[in-house]
Amino acid sequence: MSDEPEHYFTAEPASDAERRPLVVRLAGRDVEVEVASGVFSPGGIDKGTQVLLRQVPAPPSGDLLDLGCGWGALALTMALESPHATVWAVDVNTRALDLVRRNAERLGLAGVRAVAPDAVPDDVTFAAIWSNPPIRVGKQALHDLLRRWLPRLAPDAAAWLVVQKNLGSDSLARWIETELGLPTGRAASSKGFRVLRVAR
Ligand SMILES: C[S@@+](CC[C@H](N)C(=O)[O-])C[C@H]1O[C@@H](n2cnc3c(N)ncnc32)[C@H](O)[C@@H]1O
Repeated sequence: MSDEPEHYFTAEPASDAERRPLVVRLAGRDVEVEVASGVFSPGGIDKGTQVLLRQVPAPPSGDLLDLGCGWGALALTMALESPHATVWAVDVNTRALDLVRRNAERLGLAGVRAVAPDAVPDDVTFAAIWSNPPIRVGKQALHDLLRRWLPRLAPDAAAWLVVQKNLGSDSLARWIETELGLPTGRAASSKGFRVLRVAR
């Protein structure tokens, strides 16, 4: 994780003047999205997110989750790669959710649902979860977040998490295994990041 603005949990939707275009490569295509200050990594795709995108297998169909979606690098990629999926892009930052909605619309991705955590129906289970989780919220808040969402993996589904090695990726993997009882392996290690695969 890098360059998180301090106010990234609280920003309201960005005004026309605050939003700016950014060309990024998602799912092998150069696409234009909108970003704004007050969301995670507005200058481009975060390094950790790039590591995850290089390592993760193509998403299945069904309900997919981008947990902590920011402006949507992971959710938009899922939707581009799995056009019939319903992609839940979840964040507590309303500015981020607004950007994801705008970006999905701009790219014609009708399956993306950018919503606050409580707006995901309780009976939805996920065929895959991708996340660059908010490590800097603190251990307890991070554990609460993972305890809430990882058990909602569908049978045989997997979650893919990218965590900086020096921000505790290995102890987090052990915590997921012991506390949530979900087998967790190190799927890849690159540029100081670990990609964790959490199985159901
Ligand atoms: C490291 S950023 C990743 C953003 C985006 N997925 C990316 O790869 O660029 C983590 C995100 O988690 C969000 N977040 C923090 N607490 C959260 C919570 N309790 N529930 C959902 N999202 C949360 C933050 O607002 C932030 O956008």
